[in-house]
Amino acid sequence: MDIKTKIQGYTEEINAFNASSAEEIEAFRLRFLVNKGIVRSLFEEFKTVSTEEKRELGQVLNVFKQLAESKHKSLLEQIADNSDKAGGSTQDLTLPGKGLELGSRHPLSLVRKEIVGIFNKMGFIVAEGPEIEDDWHNFSALNFPEEHPARDMQDTFFIEKKEGNDIALRTHTSSVQVRMMENGKPPFRAIMPGRVYRNEAISARAHCFFHQVEGLYVDEDVSFADLKQTLFHFVQELYGEDTKVRFRPSYFPFTEPSAEMDISCTICKGAGCTLCKWSGWVEILGCGMVDPNVLENCGIDSKKYSGFAFGMGIERITNLKYVIKDLRLFSENDIRFLRQFETETI
Ligand code: PHE
Repeated sequence: MDIKTKIQGYTEEINAFNASSAEEIEAFRLRFLVNKGIVRSLFEEFKTVSTEEKRELGQVLNVFKQLAESKHKSLLEQIADNSDKAGGSTQDLTLPGKGLELGSRHPLSLVRKEIVGIFNKMGFIVAEGPEIEDDWHNFSALNFPEEHPARDMQDTFFIEKKEGNDIALRTHTSSVQVRMMENGKPPFRAIMPGRVYRNEAISARAHCFFHQVEGLYVDEDVSFADLKQTLFHFVQELYGEDTKVRFRPSYFPFTEPSAEMDISCTICKGAGCTLCKWSGWVEILGCGMVDPNVLENCGIDSKKYSGFAFGMGIERITNLKYVIKDLRLFSENDIRFLRQFETETI
């Protein structure tokens, strides 16, 4: 039988078709409209006819396809109509309503907001910069010497090689400090929240991206005492007044002297637990006095001005607040995890 005759036969069948139940309509759909149904198989067969025939047949076939589809649609409408008329609405009005679900903030957003709030009250403004940075802003201006192993401290995702100024994903938001100092005049008092990237294998304890809040304070006569008091106040606001701090000497190319700050363990309060590995202390940030070279690189007179800087990972601060042991939870979008945090209030 050629395609045309077949189409004629099916057209008659469709025109005569009537359904009184949803099952019958479904049978119609399965016969004509699914992937292995008649319409599809006719199109397959159509591929085998001569170009000559295709011209005429193509149109006939399309009309047929539309007929099958519109019949199916009208059958559905008809049955919906009938059940309405019979008083049998398809909607069961006795079913309980669906509750309106409120979103909840991501734990990292909550903690970032809290950190920003505390520094805002101390007069720090928020500064932002690009996540795709050049070598100058991410490294060189920050006193990372060329070929110095300090660059390896931060495994970098390079994007593009450029003569003397490679393009990379920023490894810290210190780059924003450089941009701020280059483009303005002291005093500066700002924090830089943002996402940063490092080439690390993803595990419970490391990720290839995370979030930081860095801070910068540059003015005349800024001293290490200012740094200590600012960070001490921050920690007390964030974790409570009984939280203790201690500073350990450290090294960063862009600060001199440099330190790492520990706080008394938020879980055991210093008594010793698995979180603080029985030491009673946990490290939360790096800090130091801005190296005069960095100030000069940004066009600031290091004889007149001094400053301090600090940087912390929001994930780490959040872990200590909510005791989250696996970093991957932050980026997996598991609703069961995310729902546990503050509900958005309208
Ligand atoms: N930029 C450092 C880091 O990402 C943190 C830091 C900032 C340390 C400012 C000291 C001063 O590890």
